[in-house]
Amino acid sequence: MKHSLKLGIAVLGLFVAAPQVAFTQELNLVCSAEQDWCDFMVNLFEEETGADVAMVRKSSGEALAQVRAEASNPKIDVWWGGTGDPHLVAAEEGLTQASGVDISELQDWAQNMATISDGKTIGIYAGALGIAYNSELLAEKGLEAPKCWADLADPSYVGEIQVANPNSSGTAYTELATFVQLFGEDEAFARLKAIGENVNQYTKSGSAPSKAAGRGETTISIGFMHDMVKLASSGFPLEIVAPCEGTGYEVGGMSIIEGARNFDMAVKWVEFALRPDIQSRSVEVKSFQVPSNKNASVAPESPDLASIKLIDYDFATYGSSETRGRLLARWDDEVGPN
Ligand code: G6P
Repeated sequence: MKHSLKLGIAVLGLFVAAPQVAFTQELNLVCSAEQDWCDFMVNLFEEETGADVAMVRKSSGEALAQVRAEASNPKIDVWWGGTGDPHLVAAEEGLTQASGVDISELQDWAQNMATISDGKTIGIYAGALGIAYNSELLAEKGLEAPKCWADLADPSYVGEIQVANPNSSGTAYTELATFVQLFGEDEAFARLKAIGENVNQYTKSGSAPSKAAGRGETTISIGFMHDMVKLASSGFPLEIVAPCEGTGYEVGGMSIIEGARNFDMAVKWVEFALRPDIQSRSVEVKSFQVPSNKNASVAPESPDLASIKLIDYDFATYGSSETRGRLLARWDDEVGPN
């Protein structure tokens, strides 16, 4: 009798345990960093844990839209990468949850994201916004090199500038928020509208304009300097400019989605992605952001944030749902195409 009871419990245990094993081996990730870094991270994580990661790359604003749309039935477990502001919006809207992992090894700017969001998003990297130009094309067209944001409104650049759309792209939202912080809201919109006269295309992804400049499809791009360095160090004829008025920067975010089906595996990813040895490997795919772990190595190619005139970017304000919604609506109304 005792024996069969034990056996019964054991069999029951098997039934209970088996689905759990399969359950914890999966992870659904939305990645808003560069595609090659996303793939690299997923491969490293799968090799180390044996997990099966389903990953899709989406620009930061698009990832936020997906997380919002799936709020009642989340399909994503972790959102890794992309600018921090939309991660903060997701946190404020209750779409993400705290992971509880130790962040004491991280830079202050990375811990700040957790402070603002009650631990629901964590900073994973930082990078400054800038301007790039294709030096060959610029010379061919006899154009002056831009030095300042103000230069981009010059009529000589008509049709020469490419930048992303801030609705889909966190990079372009960083630009919008940077202009508002540098110049005040009304003047920022007037300047963006004037620059808009010279814009040939508003792309979906933030790094697309610099890739286009590298290939000679546009002369000038606005984007993150580390993306420009990646292209320049791959042989594209790009010159990089830190705008004279000063510039804004991103703190890349990482968040676990509220209601994540694979929470334990999501926490494992978060711990993994914060490790110094893992962050130090980003150079293998030429991702030159400054890593958030103080013990990770910074690539010599990484733009030195201390030598760039950076604004004191207000993440709490520009990562709030109200401010984001208001600025994007005004951008659609006054600046965007149509
Ligand atoms: C590139 C940069 C990242 C940034 C991301 C934002 O991938 O390397 O540092 O976070 O762009 O992408 P998005 O398409 O939203 O502008």
